[in-house]
Parts: sequence; C-alpha cells; structure tokens
Amino acid sequence: MNISEDISLKKYNTFGINVTAKYFSAFSTVEELDGLFGHSPSTTHHSPLIIGGGSNILFTKNFDGLVLKNEIKGIEKVKEDHQYEYIKAGAGEAWHYLVMYCVENNLGGIENLSLIPGNVGASPMQNIGAYGVEIKDVFHSLEAYHKKEKRIVTFNLNDCEFGYRESVFKRRFKDEFVILNVTYRLTKIPMFNISYGAIEKELEAMNVKELSIRSISQAVINIRSSKLPDPAIIGNAGSFFKNPTISNSQFQMLHSKFPTIIGYTQPGEKVKLAAGWLIEQCGWKGFRSGDTGCYDKQALVLVNYGNATGKQVFDLSEDILQSVKEKFDVELEREVNIV
Ligand code: FAD
Ligand code: EPU
Repeated sequence: MNISEDISLKKYNTFGINVTAKYFSAFSTVEELDGLFGHSPSTTHHSPLIIGGGSNILFTKNFDGLVLKNEIKGIEKVKEDHQYEYIKAGAGEAWHYLVMYCVENNLGGIENLSLIPGNVGASPMQNIGAYGVEIKDVFHSLEAYHKKEKRIVTFNLNDCEFGYRESVFKRRFKDEFVILNVTYRLTKIPMFNISYGAIEKELEAMNVKELSIRSISQAVINIRSSKLPDPAIIGNAGSFFKNPTISNSQFQMLHSKFPTIIGYTQPGEKVKLAAGWLIEQCGWKGFRSGDTGCYDKQALVLVNYGNATGKQVFDLSEDILQSVKEKFDVELEREVNIV
C-alpha cells in the first residue's frame, strides 16, 4: 500500500486550489480500502477524506490528514425485467462515462444528467440533479463501507433520505461511510423528460424530429457547454450555492418589489428562487478580484482564474451571501463542500 506525503491536491479538485494533503493514497478495491483504514497514519486527528473527481469541494487550507481517492471501477448489468435494466457501477467510474454507456446501450433515465463532472460514488451524496432529473429518480441501491465498524452496508432508496441536493450522507451519516458502488434502475422503454424549457429550445435548434436518449443527451451537453465553465480551463465546482426555497407569502412580497424575480412553485406553499438571478441583481455577475470571480455567463458559479486560494473564493462567497441577504432578505446556502 502506497501512502504519499505532503502532496499537492491541485490536480485533484476542479477548483484548481493548490493546497497539500499531509497523506494521500488511492484504492481500487474494498480490501485496499480496509487496509488503508487499518494503517491510517496515527499522527493525524482527521478522519480520512474520501474524494472522487473533486468537483464539489473547495479546499480552504492544507489538509492535515489522509486523503483517499476512490478508484473502484466496473460497470455491469446485475438484473433485468421487462421494463428495466439494473446497472451497478463502481464508485470510481466517471459519471459522464456511465451516462455515455447508457446512451450507447439505449438505457433511459440519466441522459438529462449528461456532462456532470465527478464520479459515480458522489452521485448519491447530494442527489445530483439537472434539467428536471435527479439521481433519486433512477436510484436502486448502493453499498457503502462503514469507516469505524469496517463492514459493508446496503442502502435502498428510502434509506438515503434524498432531497434537493441532500442525502443522509450529507446529514445524519456525514463522514461515516465510503460509497463503494451504486446500482441504478434504467428504462428499456424510452420515457423522455424534456420539461425543462431550455431542452426543448435546444432540440428545436438542433432540428431534432424524433426524440431519442442520444438527442436529449446531446441537447443537454450543448446547453451546459454554452453556459458553464469547463474546469479544465477555468477552475470551478458548478453552482456554488443552492437555489433557496422560501414561503409563498415572502415570494409575493418580493415579487411586488422585484417583478422580474424568478420563482418555481413547490409543494407546501413554497417557492424555489433562482439564486443566479438574485446574485446577478446584486451586481456580482462577471465580477473579478485578483484570480477569484463570479462567472460572467452564470452568476451561481464562482471561479478560480488561476492562482486563487480557497480562502479568497470562500470570502467572495461570504460577500455574495451578505449582499443577497441585504437586498432580498433571503439566506443562500452553500452547495459546495467546504474543507
Ligand atoms: P467530490 O467533489 O470528490 O466529493 C464531493 C463530496 O462527496 C465530498 O464531501 C467527498 O468527501 C464526498 N465523496 C465523494 N466520493 C465519495 C464516496 N465514494 N464515498 C463517500 N463520500 C464521497 N452537480 C449537480 O448536482 N448538478 C449539476 O448540474 C452539476 N454541474 C456541475 C458543473 C460543473 C462545471 C462542475 C465543476 C460541477 C457540477 N456539479 C453539479 C457538482 C459536481 O459535479 C457533483 O456534485 C458531483 O457529483 C461531484 O462528484 P465528485 O466525484 O467530483 O465528488
Ligand atoms: N439566471 C439568471 N442569472 C444568472 C444565472 C441564472 O438570471 O446569472 C436565471 C436563468 O435565466 C434562469 C434561472 O436563473 O431563468 C435558472 O438558471 P439555470 O437554468 O442556469 O439553472 P440554475 O438554477 O442556475 C440549476 C442547478 C444546476 C443545474 C441547472 C440545470 C442548483 C444549485 N443548480 O442551476 O446544477 O445544472 O439547474 O438543471 O440547483 C450544480 O449543482 O453544480 C449545477 C450546475
């Protein structure tokens, strides 16, 4: 087992933040993981930090512990019935590679989630979502390793307590489990979801006459490429904040003051606001200070133009939070994991 010391994490996080890990290793089997937990260096008080693609993390300081990169691979069909195929994928598989596997095999359900960076293992962590679909819609089960008890536990749909960018792994069981693999339930009979307005528009622009899993995937790829920065070019972790949910009565008050405010009706007399709009209205869109900034095509995305520190990005997020609070009396919540 190979544990490196004092290595830079710059290439392991899509923000491109140059911090170091006191210890670093990777594992591609549960046996290797088990061994690493057994031999975790005792000079640190931190529980080991598991990473996948590092596309939802902001490192604000050097990590004084062991960082473990999950590289468990493999994609296999585990069962099938007349309607569904159940596909199990190793946590270390790239998410978009799995989406492309499903597109190639005409399996429906995750085409709207095309081009989301990161790995399979993190997909249930925050119930990844885009363009009208969330992981919970196709999730069947996962296997996870309990860090302290050193045993494997199976989680079914209800055990995960999925919500908007939420799961039990971000709340009650935070830092307790390492996700090893995830099984998704994919449809053999196409059921397309083009409810998100931008998809329909893009399909029209692409001149698509007949819907297919492939055409929807391509439409999503086109939309995403046009407005989200490519982390290989500009460091970022996607949406930095969640879209906040407020009461219907607060929304009515805000709407009378700001008639162009964007809100989506939710169950229980609630309204979800577009955080990007709120941030843009506060004047942040396109803002840059040194190497940190707010992306000019999507205000919800904070960026690192090169040598920003995690602290600088965090401080910018704090300023944005405060200005949104002052102008709209709405609290933004960070979506990115701060380490
Ligand atoms: P990491 O960043 O490596 O980890 C994220 C968190 O999960 C950390 O707390 C980590 O400790 C934990 N973790 C990771 N793997 C495991 C594991 N196997 N077991 C236990 N814990 C683990 N997200 C969306 O939901 N929708 C989007 O549309 C979207 N668009 C994005 C666009 C861009 C350009 C970028 C950069 C990011 C975007 N994201 C989006 C965020 C991100 O891609 C997802 O959250 C993704 O699932 C993170 O995967 P990862 O492997 O990079 O996780
Ligand atoms: N908007 C603005 N100004 C901006 C950005 C957005 O006015 O600078 C407006 C748009 O015009 C649109 C609305 O806000 O009317 C929503 O914008 P968009 O469709 O771009 O989606 P979003 O709400 O900003 C969410 C997710 C994304 C996901 C997209 C597509 C969150 C926090 N973000 O963004 O997820 O890809 O919808 O479904 O829910 C991520 O989690 O990292 C992420 C990128």
